Amino acid sequence: MNIPRVMSRNVTQPQINSPSSGRKLNPIKLPRQKEKVVVVMGATGTGKSRLSIDLATVFHAQIINSDKMQVYEGLDIVTNKITKEDRRGVPHHLLGTESPYSEFTASHFRDAALLAIESITSCGQLPIIVGGSNSYIEALIDDYDYKFRSRYDFCCLSVDVSMPVLDQYVAKRVDQMLENGMVDELRPLFNPKGDYSRGIRKAIGVPEFDQYFRKESFIMDEGIKQRLVEEAVNEMKKNTYKLARKQLGKIHRLHNVKRWKIQRLNATTVFCKHGEEAEEAWKKKVAEPSARMVARFLFDFPSANVGAGLRLCSPSALRSAMATATCDGYVLTAGYPRLSIF
Ligand SMILES: *[C@@H]1O[C@H](CO)[C@@H](O)[C@H](O)[C@H]1NC(C)=O
Repeated sequence: MNIPRVMSRNVTQPQINSPSSGRKLNPIKLPRQKEKVVVVMGATGTGKSRLSIDLATVFHAQIINSDKMQVYEGLDIVTNKITKEDRRGVPHHLLGTESPYSEFTASHFRDAALLAIESITSCGQLPIIVGGSNSYIEALIDDYDYKFRSRYDFCCLSVDVSMPVLDQYVAKRVDQMLENGMVDELRPLFNPKGDYSRGIRKAIGVPEFDQYFRKESFIMDEGIKQRLVEEAVNEMKKNTYKLARKQLGKIHRLHNVKRWKIQRLNATTVFCKHGEEAEEAWKKKVAEPSARMVARFLFDFPSANVGAGLRLCSPSALRSAMATATCDGYVLTAGYPRLSIF
């Protein structure tokens, strides 16, 4: 390649004594800031959805569901899909969007989640990935072609509840589902061929009710019917306990073996309290500490690398967070955009 004489001289002999022309020759390339992504993990029933909404109301965020049953359309009661009301206007991605009879795999999730993350960050907002399917999250983050890690920094939060306490809660939750009309919701998913290996039919509740729906129309005795329902409900509870342990085991593995940095929040006391006290405990033990963790992650505090984070968090969202003091300990100093956290 022919290098023009003048340029080659400039390249090999930078004019060190002249800072201005030196800069022209060797432009200081700032490393491109990676966009940031928050991940909320935890076993079923620990309050992940609630936490994600709490965070999304403090930071300018949108939510990407990573629960492999909630991605399908239908079974809103049985899969514990967050209601429209509880979403409090926060946009959700991959929630009830897939055909219930298709098979939405971890690699489908990875592709769809990458697209969603891109669209959320491109409008200056923070993506929060939330859901109990750790295999989905792992497929996205520890991808063979490094797509995620090369573009994004991530921060993992995990909501922990001690197992016996969680067992009690999820058992009550299944009873509540029954009262809310679970049996009628499940009936259309009954498969006379007994195949529950694809799509939404894998959801806890569908296979468990197979025997009931097989016999339902032949049994006249209400007592016997009742007993069959109870058996199915008990199976659901047992399988939910198993699922919670599996989820927790996977989180431990990601932390201990794969060395993911996962920040844990102990929500156990929240589940041992009621009403106002439970709300207070949630704020103290989960919502506020995690908002502080996310703020630290976004603003790289105290390394003064504030600019990158502010792209993700709109000033108005920040100000309203300060005003409502949902996360005490944050102070927006007079010289915005400086933010201090203590
Ligand atoms: C979580 O909190 C509960 C209740 O305060 C406590 O009994 C338990 O040991 C804590 N778990 C962890 C892992 O710190």
